[in-house]
Amino acid sequence: MGSVINVRFESASVPVDESGRQYHLNVRRGDIPRYVLLPGDPGRVPLIASFWDEKKLLSSHREYVIYVGRYRGVDVAAVSTGIGGPATAIAVEELFRVGADTFVRVGTTGALRKEIKLGDLIITSAAVRYDGVSKIYVDSEYPAVASLDVLLALIEAADELGVRYHVGITASSDSFYVGQGRPGFKNYLPRQWSDIHLRLAEVNVLNFEMEASTIFTLANIYGGRGGAVCAVIANRATDEFVPGAGVEDAIKVANEAVRILKEWDDLRAERKITYLSVSTLSEWYLRSRKK
Ligand code: URA
Repeated sequence: MGSVINVRFESASVPVDESGRQYHLNVRRGDIPRYVLLPGDPGRVPLIASFWDEKKLLSSHREYVIYVGRYRGVDVAAVSTGIGGPATAIAVEELFRVGADTFVRVGTTGALRKEIKLGDLIITSAAVRYDGVSKIYVDSEYPAVASLDVLLALIEAADELGVRYHVGITASSDSFYVGQGRPGFKNYLPRQWSDIHLRLAEVNVLNFEMEASTIFTLANIYGGRGGAVCAVIANRATDEFVPGAGVEDAIKVANEAVRILKEWDDLRAERKITYLSVSTLSEWYLRSRKK
């Protein structure tokens, strides 16, 4: 599975094989539904799929492990991005090319403010672009904002599941250590980054992670939708770190958000409307409670 050795590609600038498979993800049009969950960790993909009613391992190539399946009647995929912007941009690029358009990052994060507890979830409304790859796509003044649909679906899902969550601005860095104010090897820490976690907390940035800004920037450029929910596994203000805290809750919220998004997308198609107003959503809410 996933071997591309000796396969001939269309060209060097369009790296797609003779059967239409994308070079890195090894998938082609028709393989992937529009809704895609994006964890960083390949090991989290089967965990996400363990909550689905049907699941199938579709491909495993480099950091990109791909499951497709159905969650509560909705076709869904989970694709690991690996760590950081560059690998994430490749995943989002190739997923768009095969027909996906709605991306929900399911990640882990370090909170910057002391009132945020380990195991809480952070739902990102916008991301500070401390990544490199999104600046290759567009000037740094371009905002990395979550899609309103995905943001609201994540909030609705978190509320429904009764988990503790926070909504706000995230900082996405291409660096886990120095760029997040952690000392590098031999305590190397350039002055400009030494207190970055404190300076961001002062301006009400909730957390550090490494992929949301890339997903949001590319999703906006290409007319798709991006959102992110992350489990708080570290707190930089209290200096705590528990690697698995809240991960299962983040997965449940992301899966449920996909179900909600599908209902909203169906409603939009049925009523031939572009935007979901508060009154349309209130009607949906009352109707869904009666089911
Ligand atoms: N992921 C990050 O990028 N930073 C943290 O502190 C924890 C998870």
